[in-house]
Amino acid sequence: MKFFVDTAEVSEIRELAATGLLDGVTTNPSLVAKSGKQFLDLIAEICDVVDGPVSAEVTATDAETMLKEGEKLAKIAPNVCVKLPLTKDGLFVCKRLTGQGIKTNVTLCFSPAQAILAAKAGATFVSPFVGRLDDIGADGMGLIAEIVEIYQNYDYFTTEVLVASVRGPAHVVSAARLGAHVVTAPASVIKSLLNHPLTDKGLAAFVADWKKTGQSIL
Ligand code: G3P
Repeated sequence: MKFFVDTAEVSEIRELAATGLLDGVTTNPSLVAKSGKQFLDLIAEICDVVDGPVSAEVTATDAETMLKEGEKLAKIAPNVCVKLPLTKDGLFVCKRLTGQGIKTNVTLCFSPAQAILAAKAGATFVSPFVGRLDDIGADGMGLIAEIVEIYQNYDYFTTEVLVASVRGPAHVVSAARLGAHVVTAPASVIKSLLNHPLTDKGLAAFVADWKKTGQSIL
């Protein structure tokens, strides 16, 4: 399973990249606005830090402008993945960019029917938003299960399921159990995967007992 961090904060990306466990980055216009940085410079900076796919989202909603934006974003670095909304125009542009060998991430997916269309448009990734579905009382992980099942029925669907809008470790574990290819999560969620009080307690006891032996490995 691949881990992407869902942030536009370069310090967070650097910290996670240094662990060697980070496979990519996703951003969106809201995260970019929060960073206060110039979008194109920011994407270039992130692409310098991470070798894996870096999702950069178009901001237009019409096909012609989205295509131009996507082509411009893709020129920033070879690992840019152009993020497009799951609309008729977004899917049209997805197919065009895919045809040019550009990586794509079709975002704002909330139904299995939409995910089928993203796969047919040749998206590299489809991003179903589990947290936002849970927020309205729907079943976010149920959607992931349906998409994974559908994609497994067709060898020629190469689109990877990128679980987005992740709120906590339980979402990550459920996504892994279902066989989703990627999760993108805030840095805080990725870091929280490490935590278990019994690990801390057990390590403290091992360290204390080892000290009593008076020995040293080195
Ligand atoms: O980047 C897309 C998605 O992960 C956004 O998550 O928390 O704003 O619903 P959220």
